[in-house]
Amino acid sequence: MEKNIMLNENIFWIGKIDDRDVPFHRLTLTKGTTYNSYLLNTEKPTVIDTVDISFGKEFVDNLENIIELDKIKYIVINHTEPDHSGSLRSLASKAKNAVIVCTKPAVNELKEMYKLHDREFLIVRDGDTLDIGGKTLKFIETPYLHTEETMITYCEEDKILFPCDIFSTHVANYEYFNDLAKEDIIGDFIGYYKLIMHPHRRYVQNMIEKIEDLDIKMIAPSHGFVLRENVQSFIDIYDNMSKNAETSKKALILYSTMTGNTKKIADILKEKFEEQNIASKVINVNKTPKEEVIAAINEADAIFFGSSTKYGDMIGNMEDILKNLKSLDLESKLGVAFGSFGWSGESIEVVQDYLNETDLKVLSTSDVIKSTGMIDVEFPLRIRFSPNEDSLIKIERSVTYISDLLLSGI
Ligand code: FEO
Repeated sequence: MEKNIMLNENIFWIGKIDDRDVPFHRLTLTKGTTYNSYLLNTEKPTVIDTVDISFGKEFVDNLENIIELDKIKYIVINHTEPDHSGSLRSLASKAKNAVIVCTKPAVNELKEMYKLHDREFLIVRDGDTLDIGGKTLKFIETPYLHTEETMITYCEEDKILFPCDIFSTHVANYEYFNDLAKEDIIGDFIGYYKLIMHPHRRYVQNMIEKIEDLDIKMIAPSHGFVLRENVQSFIDIYDNMSKNAETSKKALILYSTMTGNTKKIADILKEKFEEQNIASKVINVNKTPKEEVIAAINEADAIFFGSSTKYGDMIGNMEDILKNLKSLDLESKLGVAFGSFGWSGESIEVVQDYLNETDLKVLSTSDVIKSTGMIDVEFPLRIRFSPNEDSLIKIERSVTYISDLLLSGI
């Protein structure tokens, strides 16, 4: 059983230190980690986040030694990933009067994951506050840091930020606070940022804007050290590392079109890249000499290959261009298949097959999910008929994702 550490008056760390090799996002955390949960023992006692499901019984038993569980009024879930919400069912079954506080997208996830369909939920939105009797919690939505439903909780009186995964470190430690750490934690702090947050750097900037007017004396994240010394320097690390680097990166959009719809997608892609300050060029491969197309490919950093589908295959000169790719040095370049289609859109898949045989880093929905957890960015980019409002959103998401990869300094 862990000790209960006091962060401030009536605010306790009630988490779990996991000093094993911890499997995590297809990696092994060789320094282990901690699952930090907090009890704000006010007139309306509130628990912020829980611990991994494997430690649910220990967590609840430990908490029962501090407080009668049916007195708990609120359980705040900042993020639904099971390393933080995993013990919610165990806790909720004993904290029978507790209302579960979370963002709108989190409600169904928690209900389904932990069979909480009959429990009372309080949905909070950006800037909402909650009086917990002597302390006030303010909620700040932080979507995609690192999943859609995430939020930060800020305790106004104590000036403590509870940001769950954000500002975390994966280090099992028994010192709890950064000023007591036996070793410099900056390397682990940055390593965590790069692994979990950097793929979502655009949202990191949004989050920084939202918290910049808060007076933050302490950051109590849900992994690793509580930060109470040089607090601003940790925020500055996130700010600096997530800012756009100056870039000379270029996008190239090659297309072959039958009715003009694939050209429309190509033009929208160009427009969206320009909104991201990334130079882009569109080429119709049927009206441009092959040598010129190859030269443009050699100069580009992200290359889109798009074709309409006719009789289940691509059209025009696109296949000829694709056949030339194997002889080019494409190792550091991104490749994307796209196209408009009416029925099945086989050509887009055939283009993807060709790209997979090259040195390009070919973007796929599967890789996006595995590397970022984002489920609304799709590759190849398949658009049915002429681009409409929904497809504009789809195209924009793809361009944003690729722009972040191109602009990323890491
Ligand atoms: Fe620490 Fe996203 O879970």
